[in-house]
Amino acid sequence: MVQASAPGKCILFGEHAVVFGQPAVAVAIDQRMTVSLEKNSEWRIDGMKFISKRHPHVEALKQRLWASGPPLSVKIKGDIPPASGLGSSAALSVAAAGALRCARGRQLIGQDWAEGFSARNPNNVYQGPWENSAGDSILIGNKSVDVDECAILAHAVEAHAQGGRASPLDSSTCSHGGCIVLSDKVERGLDWLYTRKLNGVAWEVHSVDLPSNIDDVWLVIGNTEVHAPTADQVSKVATLLKENPDKMKEIETIGIVARRGIDALVSGDMDGVGIAMTENHLLLRNLGVSSPELENLISAAAPSSLGVKLTGAGGGGCMIALTRNPKETSEAIELAGGKTLISRLASKGLAVEDTNLQIWNPFDN
Ligand code: PMV
Repeated sequence: MVQASAPGKCILFGEHAVVFGQPAVAVAIDQRMTVSLEKNSEWRIDGMKFISKRHPHVEALKQRLWASGPPLSVKIKGDIPPASGLGSSAALSVAAAGALRCARGRQLIGQDWAEGFSARNPNNVYQGPWENSAGDSILIGNKSVDVDECAILAHAVEAHAQGGRASPLDSSTCSHGGCIVLSDKVERGLDWLYTRKLNGVAWEVHSVDLPSNIDDVWLVIGNTEVHAPTADQVSKVATLLKENPDKMKEIETIGIVARRGIDALVSGDMDGVGIAMTENHLLLRNLGVSSPELENLISAAAPSSLGVKLTGAGGGGCMIALTRNPKETSEAIELAGGKTLISRLASKGLAVEDTNLQIWNPFDN
């Protein structure tokens, strides 16, 4: 069996404003998706017949990494609620990409990848089929797995499943783990990872090293279980800005608050992080993307928290509270009718947990 897992994410700062080039900050959460693969006589997913339309992310990855490979039994499990802004589909895609790559291995020419999707060279896309020649090698098992590649693949399949529109925030956070910042420019003082481009939009992706005192605080995630599609919320903000160009000030101020939030995070000032989160929420509310259900959970969580805000697209979905009293905050949210998850900040990214599948070498065919 080969098994890989990847975390979900939540946005600490900058949702919506990121669409207009401001920085957005996401952290990986403790909740994960796990994908395991076993050789099988026919394709199966969770014991059922594999119907590609029902599993667009797995299907897209299968086409890229397993095009003529032998049939597999795929098992998916996890504790990230779907369609709630917590990155469940990106986590699934990253875990599936990691597991498939691990099972497939990677052909090398000398030290260079002979195939694959390299962030270091975005044009280095596998054209296949690759002709085998003496002296070249294959990396097997988790040595063949590359988090950048899994982030790129997950971004590509997310965009494919969402009609061509997806920022790399979910895919990069779920692959690299920790704390990821996206911006339209390279942000000073952060660890720049790569530039991602899709459909004429470019994002600079950075990671942020967080200090050890983040272990004193928890995120309590409150789910309203109201489904509000991200695309609707994004177009709501676009309409508002068209009708009231003054509201662009809100977007710019979210950028200022997000940068202040990043500084507070890096210096371990958790009270400062909480204050910036609450300020960010008030600005999001002014953009019309909160909802009565979100406000209800936010009011319940606020007294026991350092900061509270909606996370993701809003209109429903989830809110987050940064707290030193996760039990108290979680109980308050549950009493107000929300479903809660508790997480540390900045969980680990893609992990390959079991690599015991007989490797299928696509170049042997
Ligand atoms: O769909 P979510 O909940 O992961 O967050 C969407 C974030 C937005 O800024 C609203 C949209 C976007 O593409 O960045």
